[in-house]
Amino acid sequence: MGRFACLCALVLGLGCKEKQEAPAPAAGATGAAVKKTRIIGMSQCNLGEPWRVQMNADLARAAKRHPDLQLVFKDAQNDSLTQRAQVEELVQQKIDLLIISPKESAPLTKPVAEVYRRGIPVIVLDRAVEGSEYTTFIGADNERIGREAGRWAAAALGGKGNIVELKGLMTSTPGQARHKGFRAGLELENNPGLKVVFEADMQWLEPNARKEMESALATNKSIQLVYAHNDPGAHGAYLAAKAAGREKEMKFVGIDALPHEGVRYVREGMLDATLAYPTGGDEAIELAVKIFPGETAPKSVTLGTRLFTKDTVEAGGKPIE
Ligand code: FRU
Repeated sequence: MGRFACLCALVLGLGCKEKQEAPAPAAGATGAAVKKTRIIGMSQCNLGEPWRVQMNADLARAAKRHPDLQLVFKDAQNDSLTQRAQVEELVQQKIDLLIISPKESAPLTKPVAEVYRRGIPVIVLDRAVEGSEYTTFIGADNERIGREAGRWAAAALGGKGNIVELKGLMTSTPGQARHKGFRAGLELENNPGLKVVFEADMQWLEPNARKEMESALATNKSIQLVYAHNDPGAHGAYLAAKAAGREKEMKFVGIDALPHEGVRYVREGMLDATLAYPTGGDEAIELAVKIFPGETAPKSVTLGTRLFTKDTVEAGGKPIE
């Protein structure tokens, strides 16, 4: 595959299997070392959700700034066993560094540790694995984001109201942390008028969220707020409430804040709030290029967030300090 075809494959997120050497520097006669192409394997847990398509695009864009980098993408199609096998395939393709956004923590912990033990640096993005056998974890503080959502909800409801919580996949770390943070942010001990009347695991998926919300509506005559662990979930809940003619009775809060997804929903009045969840694609590539020459990497990099409501959306959201 030629250099151009390879670049196209990269932009399309298809990957490029061929290892390439960058042209030898003209200064070869001076004895300068030949610059090696570095292959980064990217194991993405699925590409069915816009946020993950955005993560891959962010990685590809950042990698373009470094002509000696080549990205090889794998899409595990939301299956942990497939993701496990794809990590092994990437190692066989002789990657110089692995970036992984794991579907679930437990099943991906061992494969990640095995790559790390071989001396291949591993950057874990967004969803964590267990233990500490990886180079660096990059992601936003999900517990903090959940807490901010809880605080916002308690204030917006004036301390009184029935709440539905539609959880992300609870075998993934963001689902666990967004739940824990939210409950802490509600401060139920100081706000006895707040009640979580329905909760379900919608596994990050909009169609599941819609179905769960139909059950919540059927069993609860009065709902004042829906907190979903991501914007597709909040949107699914909104559509279910709208179909039942009840969407005006309640507020909807989500997480992710992609410009063409959550931010647009807030602007159009479907969601009342969303919190940004940066993909970390840029940060992962910039860290990789430091790891290659041997710089010591931090064990974890925490990304910030912003709150988007109808009052802050036009200003690009409000940063959470
Ligand atoms: C996409 C997604 C995002 C969410 C993230 C959590 O797969 O569900 O919507 O913020 O994963 O890992």
